[in-house]
Amino acid sequence: MRTPFSWVMLVVVAALMKLPAPQAAYEQPNFIVILADDVGWGDLGANWAETKETPHLDELAAEGTRFVDFHSAASTCSPSRASLLTGRLGVRNGVTHNFAVTSVGGLPLNETTLAEVLRGAGYSTGAIGKWHLGHHGHHHPIFRGFDYYFGIPYSHDMGCTDTPGYNLPPCPPCPQHSMATRVVRKDCYTEVALPLLENLTIIQQPVNLSSLTERYVEAATQFIQQASNSRRPFFLYLALAHMHVPLGVPPPPTMGRSIYGASLSEMDALVGRIKQVIDSLGKGKTLLWFTG
Ligand SMILES: *[C@@H]1O[C@H](CO)[C@@H](O)[C@H](O)[C@H]1NC(C)=O
Ligand SMILES: *[C@@H]1O[C@H](CO)[C@@H](O)[C@H](O)[C@H]1NC(C)=O
Ligand SMILES: *[C@@H]1O[C@H](CO)[C@@H](O)[C@H](O)[C@H]1NC(C)=O
Repeated sequence: MRTPFSWVMLVVVAALMKLPAPQAAYEQPNFIVILADDVGWGDLGANWAETKETPHLDELAAEGTRFVDFHSAASTCSPSRASLLTGRLGVRNGVTHNFAVTSVGGLPLNETTLAEVLRGAGYSTGAIGKWHLGHHGHHHPIFRGFDYYFGIPYSHDMGCTDTPGYNLPPCPPCPQHSMATRVVRKDCYTEVALPLLENLTIIQQPVNLSSLTERYVEAATQFIQQASNSRRPFFLYLALAHMHVPLGVPPPPTMGRSIYGASLSEMDALVGRIKQVIDSLGKGKTLLWFTG
């Protein structure tokens, strides 16, 4: 939710995996939009030579097209996501501020999302990761054009976990049974344990942040394979937790590597694995975007 950086966005990369063969010219392409959270321009080696942690993204940049003057509609979570999914600025779609854990509203229900448009065109649609466009009633992604959802309804610092990850200052784990052990910290959310949802069901609470990346990759892989098996084109919106705090890199980063760098590598590896999955579908079928 706190977004220290970036009102001007950096989109980074798009790669069309070679143009379709003539006989496939009428096939609908698949779309994957990977939205990294709080990523900085210099976080990618393609933009900043000193960054060594992003080989897969750099390869994508080298093979694809870089949009270096593409701007986010806002510097904050909910408004930038609302605009990405509606194509409308916050002053029009009504989302000018972040939704809170206590918010009952969300992206106004009269707005049309990209997922709704593509679903109408026969696409299988999935959202994986951070939603942050409302988590009550019909604001859930399942009612906003997505057939499938797997993720956290808002930012992953907006609830406590037993695996708090790295943050400055660090947040304590979820309070255990007795109120006596409760640590009250005004800059940490301790009231509600962070939930992980699959479709409309909470499948883990609190979320284990150490295994979240792996679960996102698994869910994305499964979604892509299912769509592909059913011979439907798909739209996957993959809204990563990276590089937003807390950074949930598994066990201690090795000496000489910063936590931030280790987390960048983890994000890059995730993108590499998604790319591998779409490569296995065959060239020319999928348009992959990576943006921040
Ligand atoms: C949805 O309703 C609000 C408030 O009436 C309005 O400002 C907005 O333009 C509407 N959106 C669409 C897509 O019509
Ligand atoms: C989630 O919804 C999708 C689409 O309706 C369905 O195929 C899938 O089985 C559901 N997953 C779970 C775990 O309910
Ligand atoms: C969280 O996931 C990690 C990696 O899978 C695992 O090693 C750890 O035991 C889990 N922690 C909790 C509290 O479940």
